[in-house]
Amino acid sequence: MSELDKFKRYTVTSALPYANGPLHIGHLAGAYLPADTFVRHLRLKRKDVVYICGSDEHGAAITIKAKKEGTTPQEIIDKYHNQIKKSFGDFGIGFNIYHRTSSPIHHDLSQEFFLNLYEKGEFIEKESEQYYDEEFDQFLADRYIIGTCPNCKNDGAYGDQCEKCGTSLSPTDLINPKSTLSGKEPILRLTKHWYLPLDKYQPWLEDWLLEGKKNKWKSNVYGQCSSWLKSGLQPRSMTRDLDWGIDVPLEEAKGKKLYVWMDAPIGYISATKQWAIDNGKDWKLYWKNQEKEEDNSCLLHFIGKDNIVFHCITFPSILHAHGEYILPQNVPANEFLNLEGDKLSTSRNHAVWLHEYLDEFPGKQDELRFVLTSILPETSDSEFTWKDYQARINNELVAILGNFVNRVMILMHKYYDGILEQSTLNDVDLSNQVGNTYSEMDENLQSFKFRQGLSSVIDLARTGNRYLTEKEPWKTFKTDPENTRVVLENCVQLIGHLGVLMQPFLPNASKKLFQLLNLENDTVYYDEALDLKKGHQLNKPELLFEKVEDEVIERQLEKLKQKTQAAAPEKTPNISEAKENISFEQFAAMDIRTGTILEAEKVAKTKKLLKLKIDTGIDQRTVVSGIAEFFEPESIIGKKVSILVNLEPREIKGIQSQGMILMAENLDGKLSFVSPGDETNNGSTVR
Ligand code: 2FM
Ligand code: ZN
Repeated sequence: MSELDKFKRYTVTSALPYANGPLHIGHLAGAYLPADTFVRHLRLKRKDVVYICGSDEHGAAITIKAKKEGTTPQEIIDKYHNQIKKSFGDFGIGFNIYHRTSSPIHHDLSQEFFLNLYEKGEFIEKESEQYYDEEFDQFLADRYIIGTCPNCKNDGAYGDQCEKCGTSLSPTDLINPKSTLSGKEPILRLTKHWYLPLDKYQPWLEDWLLEGKKNKWKSNVYGQCSSWLKSGLQPRSMTRDLDWGIDVPLEEAKGKKLYVWMDAPIGYISATKQWAIDNGKDWKLYWKNQEKEEDNSCLLHFIGKDNIVFHCITFPSILHAHGEYILPQNVPANEFLNLEGDKLSTSRNHAVWLHEYLDEFPGKQDELRFVLTSILPETSDSEFTWKDYQARINNELVAILGNFVNRVMILMHKYYDGILEQSTLNDVDLSNQVGNTYSEMDENLQSFKFRQGLSSVIDLARTGNRYLTEKEPWKTFKTDPENTRVVLENCVQLIGHLGVLMQPFLPNASKKLFQLLNLENDTVYYDEALDLKKGHQLNKPELLFEKVEDEVIERQLEKLKQKTQAAAPEKTPNISEAKENISFEQFAAMDIRTGTILEAEKVAKTKKLLKLKIDTGIDQRTVVSGIAEFFEPESIIGKKVSILVNLEPREIKGIQSQGMILMAENLDGKLSFVSPGDETNNGSTVR
């Protein structure tokens, strides 16, 4: 039995997305699809599980978006909360509740947490100089300030975190900090804040995380945490000088708000409270330490890697300092999903948006779930490409799973009108394989290996296809009708099991399969016997999945290209300032002539250099030029150029270079020739 199996109750959360934009495939693959699959699996095992999520509606992510759209934060959260909620519903993400952090129940609970820690004297109260934007009259924290990350040198690190390397930061850690409001360098101004003493909790955190390691936390998660611990934790401010968020419940902190990363994870608890009220449940069973430790719920946070620090360091510290709450049993964070060789990016519109996908692929949610589960970034970043989407659907869903089901259904109808005689699977090997698939899948899902879990189900369908090919019922039907029936009915039983096993991954397709089999229930628990008994009538065959044609994929690729281009900001030339004046004599000293390239070849063992032979009108000479990245040698022969002929000769890679070709650079750094007109003859002076 796996470690996780021993729990009576489970509290599963997926990161609360900021209500500041629609969802894309990267979101789904990060924190939602794996969690939903896991929860479906638990439910099919009849476990007591609550699955919690909601919109994260505070913080600079919201106010900055409101400013960008020229509207209010309230309008932003209302718009995107509804859009996000709908997308989750459309893709079958089965939360028990999708809540909001703007709700009063959440504000109350967050303030209660703050006061609890405050009254225990946990916070360090400190006045310090913080960055301030004079033009906008505002303190700059979190996403209001960007700069270079001291850890990985990413230029776009925020004031509280570098999303590239995950490191948590303070604004004063940033190199070259700039206000995202005015774009200017900020000044410093004194302000008071309340800090969570993470340094004080460090010894406790070290022990607790070590337990996590023993409980087989993913190495990417434990690795990140231990590297932060190694560099020593610092107190972190839990309050902000902002006007959007939850009020700090202290008289002396009037006008200040809670840090969004203090309130957001408390959102998991407030959402559970709301769900309990709505459904007559006791939320404390899912969150509070019980009298007997073995009665505690198993808390699991599914997140993306940029959220690790908040779920493994900050939030557990808050829960620990409070004292009454359970701590996460595991934090199975995923890495990032890339798209067509590039990072998913909202600002560059380089994304597959879930609502747009559904407009173009109506009813094809499970196809996307299948592809994404097959490539989940479980241990390292992974890549979605449209060609791969097509290949996985055509070669696996259609050619293996769909094809097996279809072949069997057609033959059953052709030979036996779709009526069963047999009530069980009568083949020892196949039965064993079915049993193994259930346990393999369970093991894989309990260790958060969703890709492997799914592939064991596809392998079972592969086994079915192989069995059919070996037994050739279409040949034996005439000579051995009795055995042929056994073979085909074994396949029907196998299809039933495939339907059950598919449920956590492909909730719609499994329902469709149960309908094809004419089963009454659209959910079949793992411990339930399949209702495929003697006399059972199968429904008419229908295709479970459709092939994806080349044109469909080409259209998506074209669309992505156009979207990305349309969103690309216009480039502004980086024009350097004029150099110091020179005298006319100095200018006249330069002897620039027009010439023609006679020969061009790559300089061996270099990437950038071409060896050119130039007719300068004066002579034919060799020039080595750093333009190989931009031109194929053959393409520039005969080209008119301007050449500085009295530059002192230099030896470059063993070649004597006599002069320099004049080039100009475009916005992308590409060089082009400063070409004289065709009417000039070689040797004309350029002046
Ligand atoms: O990174 C994000 O999108 C955050 N809104 C996640 C919050 S998770 C939780 F703690 F609420
Ligand atoms: Zn970084």
